Amino acid sequence: MRITDRGIVAQLAEMRVDLQAGASLAGLTSLGIGGTTDLLRIKKHESLPDLLSLLETNHMPYKFLGGGSNLLVGDGELPGVVLQLVRPEPDVVLDGNFAHVDAAADLGRMITFCAKNDLGGMEGLIGVPGTVGGALRMNAGAYGMQIGSYVREVKLYRAASRGIEILRGHQISFEYRHTSFAPDDMMLSVILELPSKPFKLILEGIRICNEKRRSSQPLGQKSAGCIFKNPPGSSAGRMIDELGLKGLSVGDARVSDRHANFFVNAGRASAKDMLSLIADVRERVQRNYGVSLENEVVVWNA
Ligand code: EPU
Repeated sequence: MRITDRGIVAQLAEMRVDLQAGASLAGLTSLGIGGTTDLLRIKKHESLPDLLSLLETNHMPYKFLGGGSNLLVGDGELPGVVLQLVRPEPDVVLDGNFAHVDAAADLGRMITFCAKNDLGGMEGLIGVPGTVGGALRMNAGAYGMQIGSYVREVKLYRAASRGIEILRGHQISFEYRHTSFAPDDMMLSVILELPSKPFKLILEGIRICNEKRRSSQPLGQKSAGCIFKNPPGSSAGRMIDELGLKGLSVGDARVSDRHANFFVNAGRASAKDMLSLIADVRERVQRNYGVSLENEVVVWNA
């Protein structure tokens, strides 16, 4: 969707929102798949209520983009615009055991920064690509830990109340790859309470997790991490592997040879290719195991 109205363009500039016309979502996602639309980059959290009422008044649908690392975007021109926060400097401020983190901060860099200041707990998440905001809304987890355990406070834009709100940790439920945030809530910043731990010890944990990840996941390839959630008590990757589906392809969309729950873009895969590979694998797992796999990857405009 393109913003052509000069009045709207002028109002965006007043709100200090950068308009990038015709941005390619393929260039903004780790899968390297997705069509084009206008990208609005937000420098001031406080401009969100006005920005969203401007978009709503003009009947322009919108979606929030974090780091684009768990996202499959449809091909062609998107039917709405995409909003993304600009990362401020600094994006992490420490106060004792509390880390005040902007949602646009890079997750891995935030964990490393805290580690250097003897704050640990999140070693398992070190190789997970994406922003802190994205990790928060999905409750990203790995190697027995999840970000939700450390959340004390979240500042967010709530579409339901059309305003910026602060939620305390106990008001949010964090489950396996799921949170109680509404789909149209936008994460703005978070306060994490992290346990004190000497840097050397944190580094050791980080090395172990990195090693495990390197040996089991296709890190150098374009992917969105795991495609399906693990069903309770079972593993999607193991089932897909047992069915002999590693290497199964539709165009350049391919089930990874290294980890069967990672589907990679081995060249110029389209969203159509990837979606048909996902549907095919889901159908085979359903037929053979009687299990209906749920997407872990977020899909836009399929
Ligand atoms: N397995 C296979 N073949 C495969 C892949 C896995 O047999 O191709 C087996 C493994 O040998 C193991 C079991 O399946 O016995 C589980 O595999 P793994 O330890 O790799 O973990 P996972 O359940 O597949 C989950 C998360 C990952 C996270 C890892 C490490 C989900 C959907 N996936 O994977 O998260 O990195 O544990 O904690 O919860 C993601 O969220 O995108 C993601 C990659």
